[in-house]
Formats: sequence, C-alpha cells, structure tokens
Amino acid sequence: MNLQETQTAFDSVAADYDGPRGNNAMIQDMRRDMWHWLDATFAPRSRLIDIGCGTGLDAIRMAQLGHRVTATDWSPQMVMRTSERAARERLTDSVRSMTLGAHELDRLGETGIYDGAYSNLGPLNCVPVLSDVARECARLLRPGGKLVFTVIGRICPWEIAHYMRRRQWARVKVRFARGFVPVSMNKHTIWTHYYGPREFYRPFRQEFSLTHHRGLCLFAPPPYLTWIRDRHPAAYDCLRRLDRRAAGWPLLRAAGDHFLMIMTKR
Ligand SMILES: C[S@@+](CC[C@H](N)C(=O)[O-])C[C@H]1O[C@@H](n2cnc3c(N)ncnc32)[C@H](O)[C@@H]1O
Repeated sequence: MNLQETQTAFDSVAADYDGPRGNNAMIQDMRRDMWHWLDATFAPRSRLIDIGCGTGLDAIRMAQLGHRVTATDWSPQMVMRTSERAARERLTDSVRSMTLGAHELDRLGETGIYDGAYSNLGPLNCVPVLSDVARECARLLRPGGKLVFTVIGRICPWEIAHYMRRRQWARVKVRFARGFVPVSMNKHTIWTHYYGPREFYRPFRQEFSLTHHRGLCLFAPPPYLTWIRDRHPAAYDCLRRLDRRAAGWPLLRAAGDHFLMIMTKR
C-alpha cells in the first residue's frame, strides 16, 4: 500500500469529481441514503468530523443544516474544492477544511469535543491501519458520540455477476483479497482494502457499540453500472426501494456494494 499514490490519484480527479466520475446520479442516490442516516443520527448543531470529505458535498450540506464540520481529506486538491465550496456558500464559519489523512487524526488535538464523525463512500478503505482510526475517534468523540461510515464491502452480488458474465475471474476475486489491492483510476493507483462489516467493526468494538448496519446497493446495482438505471428506470427504482426496506435484515446486510455502519461511543 502506498499512501502517496492514493493521494496523487485523488488529486488528479478533484477538479471534475462532482461530475460523472465521482457523483453520478446513482452515487447521488447513495448519498441521499447517507444523508437520511446522518439526519437520523446527529442532533441539531452537532460538532462533526468529515473523514475523507472529497469535494465537500456532505460537509456543506451538514453545515447548511446548522452543524459545525471539520472537513478532512488526504488529498490537498479535494480539500481545496471543499474550501472553495464553503467560501461560495458563505459557510467558512461552520466548515473548517484541512488536509489531514484518516491515518493522522492524532493531529487534531481536540480531545472529547466532537459529537460525531462520518465518512462517506470509502475513504476508510484507504487507511493503512484501521485500529488507529478507531483509537483516534474514541479520543475525539464525547461519550455517546456517534460514527456513521459507508465503506466498500466485499460481497457485491451485482459485481460478481457482472464480471462472471465477462469471465473476468481476477476481477471477480478482487474484493476478497486479504490486504490492500491496487485499483486504477485515471491512470493512477488507489490502494484499497475491502472489508466485510464484521472485520471492519472489530477494531472499534472495544470503544464503540454497534448501533446499526446495513448494505448499500445490495438489490440496486453499484453506481458504475449506470446503463441499468438509464435503460430500466422503473426496475431500478423498485430495487432501490427494496434496498431501503430489506438491506438491513440479518444475513442480507453483510452484502452490498458498500455497507453503512453506525456506532456509538461507550
Ligand atoms: C470516493 S471519494 C469520497 C469523497 C466524499 N466522501 C464523497 O462522499 O464524495 C474518497 C475520498 O477519500 C479520500 N481519501 C483517500 N485516502 C484517504 C485517507 N487515508 N485519509 C483520508 N481521506 C482519504 C480521497 O482523497 C477522496 O476524497
């Protein structure tokens, strides 16, 4: 795993990451799901950390609702996009943006003052040592503080079917790798560790209880299969409804393109 390569990869796409690459209509659907859970979890005027904020879409939205957000990302170019967005929206008082990797949260010296942290769409799949994140979140959050994370999962039925049909066996197996795997984006490499919900929770369990977890894009296809939504919008809507209804059920919730996990600090 090489943090520098991951940083370069995300820097290289920051300028147009709000477009089809980073925020297509299906990603926006997933983002709406995340917003639902963020709103259900955090009390008004919470003090929050966004881990891997990207271009700041979530951080700005949370600030518009009255929360104060420390928006962090390992990519300086992404952080610049967040700062620009905050300035455009006149939210610089409530969004503080910082180039800071999830692996260096110890640089935030504000012990116990946060009501929560969230991370959307996989930044935590790029962290070298997850237990460092767990330890630092426990330090930064007050007792009762919450974590809301969406993480790229291991068992994505759509992806398995998609690559099996094409006989791309290496691609079928990629999410089952033990450690980090190189994933290419824009001719660069993102070093990615896929997780099942159980293995992801393990380093957090001492300090955090598991409040909720569910699959995301379990019945609905993952966001890179855009043609399915384009050609079959009614079927896609139906699968999305099924996701909202059943992707939190035991057994089913272990699968999905991503999973969403909510934890509470003891
Ligand atoms: C798929 S994007 C998601 C961005 C944003 N959360 C969103 O919802 O649009 C992943 C983000 O994780 C960031 N990232 C990658 N490795 C990271 C790390 N070690 N620490 C913090 N952020 C990281 C990338 O720079 C990128 O902005």
